[in-house]
Amino acid sequence: MEESKRRSQGWFGKTGKDGLIYRSWFKKQGIPTHELNGKPIIGICNTWSELTPCNSHFRELAEFVKKGVLEAGGYPVEFPVMSLGETVMKPTAMLYRNLASMDTEESIRANPLDGVVLLCGCDKTTPSLVMGACSVDLPTIVVSGGPMLTGRYRGTSVSTSDIWRFSEEARAGKMTQEELFIAESGLCRSDGHCAVMGTASTMACMVESLGLSLPGNAAIPAPDSARKVLAHLSGMEIVKMVENDLKLSDILTREAFENAIMVNAAIGGSTNFVIHLLAIAGRMGIDLSLEDFDKFSSNIPLLANLQPSGMYFMEDLYYAGGLPAIIRQLKDHLHNDCITVNGKAIGKNNELFENFNEKVIAAIDNPFNETSGIVVLKGNLCETGAIIKPSAASPHLMKHTGKAIVFEDIDEYKNKIDDPDLDIDENSVMVLKNVGPKGYPGMPEVGNMGLPPKVLAKGITDMIRISDGRMSGTGFGTVVLHASPEAAEGGNFAVVRTGDLIELDVKARKLNLLVSEEELAKRKAAWKKPEVPTERGYVSLYIKHVEQANLGADLDFLKGGSGSEVTKDSH
Ligand code: FES
Ligand code: MG
Repeated sequence: MEESKRRSQGWFGKTGKDGLIYRSWFKKQGIPTHELNGKPIIGICNTWSELTPCNSHFRELAEFVKKGVLEAGGYPVEFPVMSLGETVMKPTAMLYRNLASMDTEESIRANPLDGVVLLCGCDKTTPSLVMGACSVDLPTIVVSGGPMLTGRYRGTSVSTSDIWRFSEEARAGKMTQEELFIAESGLCRSDGHCAVMGTASTMACMVESLGLSLPGNAAIPAPDSARKVLAHLSGMEIVKMVENDLKLSDILTREAFENAIMVNAAIGGSTNFVIHLLAIAGRMGIDLSLEDFDKFSSNIPLLANLQPSGMYFMEDLYYAGGLPAIIRQLKDHLHNDCITVNGKAIGKNNELFENFNEKVIAAIDNPFNETSGIVVLKGNLCETGAIIKPSAASPHLMKHTGKAIVFEDIDEYKNKIDDPDLDIDENSVMVLKNVGPKGYPGMPEVGNMGLPPKVLAKGITDMIRISDGRMSGTGFGTVVLHASPEAAEGGNFAVVRTGDLIELDVKARKLNLLVSEEELAKRKAAWKKPEVPTERGYVSLYIKHVEQANLGADLDFLKGGSGSEVTKDSH
């Protein structure tokens, strides 16, 4: 692209009062004039925050991106956006994904940037930044922060997935609080995001399979020097992308989304993938539906033996060849000619990567499981859909009819679950309402409800659980999620009662409430919409505009994009 036509020259290339103002305040940072005379200005969109421990190394990581940008002849400017710390934000980081995406979108558009590097790590920081960047559509590359090193506890390898196991063991009286204190100190022991194929790693794999990062981005551990090298190379690459005007809309085609769905199936990725990919597609104007997740993942075998579906950790995936070794195995399934950030097709990028450990990455003809991916369920309990991840579920529960034990909300669940008089056994179906996008609000990761102690005491570790909420990407079990319409919208899910029979048949893609139409109609007529918790602020805006889970839970008015042009100056 010609220097004079660069977007940033709409600021720094001006004469008169406007140009003076735009340049003068930039120069006060110690920037010489020649840096502003037509070089690609590269924004480094940073989610560093001490409130997002998974991204706490991002100031250092940004320095390596800057080296690459400078080396390639661009000029880097780092800026912060709202950062979402999965483990600390109340009531759930998901409530703020769309808000952070608005911050990202407006921060990119309003500023003199020609290209953007997104520094993403903890779960929601990836989709929020990608969604926002899509609505502007500049040349954009993602650099993920990388997973933590595998945790250690009493000589064994542990990570985020063990939280659920530890807490069930503590509730069953098999682990003391003292032991939990020791475990928490070794669980997270380095820079980086969760070390299993949870949502953060799933998101890093998503951007790599969409073609939005350099090959290998997903699995390099945060403390590994290769992560810094990748950041440097990505800084160089974004300058080339600006020169070639390679924008998100050139990369994010319908086929790229289909690739991401297939790769997610092969890695046993998080159920949260569904809601985030739908939201990203919505920003790009790509017509992607919930059914596509089932359609494109149903014939993909499970190739990664990673927790929570399998045994190993992200560090092991990296040593085995990383995501490129998996993408290469999928070459007969994928759209290999989808273009990626480096201007090369995804097939070409990954064709030389080898698999170094078949315990971690299976050969395509000898997979860990013939089936994988996300199954989309339909039925009168979830008229517009619900999802389940079979690779994390128990085979014996995949076809089951049982009596519903209904919790109207999370407080009722917490109050009742430990009650020895609760009429529940391992054949019951636990149902949790009002944890959907509008109902909670924000759709928290509570869908993998802990089991009642009297069931745990029998040594049973899984039961069917159904909710309109989400599950942590590190969670597992026969857990039906994202039931929509959610309870707060007043569909059949809102009126299911304790004692009703529920039939789950994963193979047939069915989830039904075995209650007559007349009875359901009667219950729905008597149903009252729950009161909204507040009429002010972002939460009120969110409840009014958030879409249902089957559409990606974006705000309705954020669909699509507004491009990168801003015609008015500020003075
Ligand atoms: Fe940040 Fe798991 S809590 S990635
Ligand atoms: Mg999470």
